[in-house]
Amino acid sequence: MILVTGGAGYIGSHTCVELLSAGYEIAIMDNFSNSQPEVLEKIRQITGKDFKFYEADMTAPEATETIFRENTIDCVIHFAGYKAVGESVQQPLKYYYNNITGTVILCQIMQKYGCKKMVFSSSATVYGNPKSVPIREDFPLSTTNPYGSTKLMIEQILRDIAIADSEWSIALLRYFNPIGAHKSGLIGESPNGIPNNLVPYIAKVAAGQLEHLNVFGNDYPTQDGTGVRDYIHVVDLSLGHIKAVEKVLKTKGVDAYNLGTGKGYSVLEIVKAYEKACGKSIAYVIAPRRPGDIPACYADPAKSEKELGWTAKMGIEEMCEDSWRFTLNNLH
Ligand code: UD1
Repeated sequence: MILVTGGAGYIGSHTCVELLSAGYEIAIMDNFSNSQPEVLEKIRQITGKDFKFYEADMTAPEATETIFRENTIDCVIHFAGYKAVGESVQQPLKYYYNNITGTVILCQIMQKYGCKKMVFSSSATVYGNPKSVPIREDFPLSTTNPYGSTKLMIEQILRDIAIADSEWSIALLRYFNPIGAHKSGLIGESPNGIPNNLVPYIAKVAAGQLEHLNVFGNDYPTQDGTGVRDYIHVVDLSLGHIKAVEKVLKTKGVDAYNLGTGKGYSVLEIVKAYEKACGKSIAYVIAPRRPGDIPACYADPAKSEKELGWTAKMGIEEMCEDSWRFTLNNLH
């Protein structure tokens, strides 16, 4: 059985759908700190399959241990964690405590129960401001905010565990910018309040819930001056996790993999693609640069293709169409 921490979240829920569809037995653990219980029913509805669910906080050892006592867990996909960059700057201890302590406790329990296979939800944020693009896994690592630091520190902790005990097998998955939603329109990304990320913000403008997009800077050294990112369909990203599970189940050691498409799109290119998908024009104004933003970030996905046998298949049109379908289905 695969344990999915944070399985009710955006990437977690899509990965659970793909795991169940691929025939895996799963248990989901989530504390709903940034997700809704209804997501679980939607996963059942999409897949026609059932799974165990534990409402538990990973910083509470007893709750996590119950899951290992009651089930034979072969591998953990570890998504649970706080992820808001701005909040992490304001409340660093909240981030270090939850993300780091939670992961350490999880690993202690895994070790105790002899479960030594993990797929970890890392981020391209660990590359800091890269010296060039596309970004390879062996580029220097650094961070610019506490959220990013928790990802990098956890990578280091997991590497140390694998050095101390060669039985461990760990895949560190460095996500680029996941967007889009499941084709059913039932699950997707629905941040509370005003979104920080580009595509959820554009979706709210398209839906008439926000007046206009602020484009953060148009004087970057990019094709049109706006920031360039590697947007990847969340279902493609989820399929990368299935490949990573297959890999860790049959190998040992620790390795990092980029999950991106290898293509960079500017903010204005995304606006145009979204306008096409929703059939409306998206109002925007050019605003100052957002502190901490970098000009361009996109992956070299060659290592994932070679070693995981995975590549992203869906293009930007499909990502925007699927985001819009989910938005229309969830206008309440
Ligand atoms: C952000 C986080 C990153 C995290 C990732 C996934 C920051 C600085 N970085 O990445 O650590 O791993 O989300 O959650 O927050 N943009 C606008 N207007 C907006 C929003 C965004 O112009 O209202 C631009 C940004 O300047 C950037 C691009 O759109 O060029 C993408 O932004 P966003 O979706 O927030 O992702 P990242 O900043 O790449």
